[in-house]
Amino acid sequence: MAANGFPKYKSDGSRLGDLMEWFDARFPMSSMWKAHLSEYYAPKNFNFWYFFGSIAIVVLIIQFVTGIFLTMHYQPDGTLNASGISGAFASVEYIMREVPGGWFIRYMHSTGASAFFIVVYLHMFRGMLYGSYRKPRELIWIFGVLIFLCLMAEAFMGYLLPWGQMSYWGAQVILNMFTAIPVVGEDLSTLIRGDYVVSDATLNRFFALHVCAVPLALLGLVVAHILALHEVGSNNPDGVEIKNFKDEKGIPLDGVPFHPHYTIGHDLPANVIFLFFFFGVVFFWPEVGGYFLEYNNFLPADPMQTPAHLAPVWYFTPFYSMLRAMVWNFFWIDAKVWGVISMFAGVLILLFLPWLDRSPAKSIRYRGPIFKVLLAIFVFSFVILGFLGTKAPDYHFFGYTPSEGFNPLNILLSGSFHTKFFTFYYFLFFLTMPFWSKIDKCKPVPERVTFK
Ligand code: HEM
Repeated sequence: MAANGFPKYKSDGSRLGDLMEWFDARFPMSSMWKAHLSEYYAPKNFNFWYFFGSIAIVVLIIQFVTGIFLTMHYQPDGTLNASGISGAFASVEYIMREVPGGWFIRYMHSTGASAFFIVVYLHMFRGMLYGSYRKPRELIWIFGVLIFLCLMAEAFMGYLLPWGQMSYWGAQVILNMFTAIPVVGEDLSTLIRGDYVVSDATLNRFFALHVCAVPLALLGLVVAHILALHEVGSNNPDGVEIKNFKDEKGIPLDGVPFHPHYTIGHDLPANVIFLFFFFGVVFFWPEVGGYFLEYNNFLPADPMQTPAHLAPVWYFTPFYSMLRAMVWNFFWIDAKVWGVISMFAGVLILLFLPWLDRSPAKSIRYRGPIFKVLLAIFVFSFVILGFLGTKAPDYHFFGYTPSEGFNPLNILLSGSFHTKFFTFYYFLFFLTMPFWSKIDKCKPVPERVTFK
């Protein structure tokens, strides 16, 4: 009997069987297989929204494998030669043009970064739809938010590595924001950069963090995320606990073994379809119109010339908008500091979601109209913030700038007004949730899952 109560593997007398028995007596192979796959009972009513966890694992593997191959040829050298080209930029060009299949590996890695965020945003949204962060799954959610933070750090540092114009100036802008923090700001920025400006020292430390420290943290967090999930069991589109109704053997009546039911019948086809689109982008449209790979980043970093328009990659833009929304100095604190606070608070507020939501029903299927309307506006706000983050600060929905005299309509249609308005809504949605989630009229929640 294994430590977790599952019986040990017994040989059928064959050589392979004997080897497996020998191995299983010394390593929890069969008990782990049973606990996490063949005897992990998942609700039988999973739908489309439950594809993204396994797709995220596949993207994580793609990023690890392609990253290892890129590291074989990439050089973290930010020093410019006589023609103004760094070793880092030249090594990326070398990978693209000279290394056999190098372009393929690099485009898989760059497409993988954006694909990761698409998949993780949909995965998080599923959590909000079905209340998957609610008791007893708070820790799964918290590990998820920490994964999201690590992913952001990983993507930010990875983006510096090609040492192109956007890598260099993007890092310059974001790291300069930290200088605004009172007392420690200047020293903190210098510590992160390793220099007074973004330089070779910055590139070297970002490289070390990008290829070693953050991936390790990410891997550990993903393992913790799945262990926490398997401890309490999966939620489902009805938001009811399948553990409440079990047969005489202790198996949930509404559960099915994860393997082979969901591995073969659900996640495998989903991943094949995902990979079809993924490789479609890798082969035919790797820059995705400048959204996955910004055109200015095909130019080598030039510390003497700031690009005319600076915008982060699309997945950061909602939070970048939150940073830009803060233009006032409140309580003697600089607007820049409020910007940094607002950007980080935009992510960190998610940690409190399990305790902000007081609704009697978990799933959107049984929640009331207030939740449905406010959630729809929340999604709209997030998309608009993302869109505005890709635009210049004086962007206007009708093409003219708000600086053209005082005209209320002009101001109402300006990007900067919408950035502030939707940032306000984003925070208001979470901060007022304890009130509206309690008074919302929910439908009666069934005891067992509904499944046709
Ligand atoms: C590398 C990134 C991630 C990986 C590989 C990952 C993996 C998974 C897997 C395999 C599952 C079970 C299958 C499924 O429910 O789809 C899952 C469930 C879950 N994940 Fe993630 N996840 C990641 C990021 C996140 C993030 C960023 C959040 C939220 C902030 C999150 C929140 C959840 C929740 C709440 C569940 C339980 C869902 C339920 O039972 O309804 N995950 N995750």
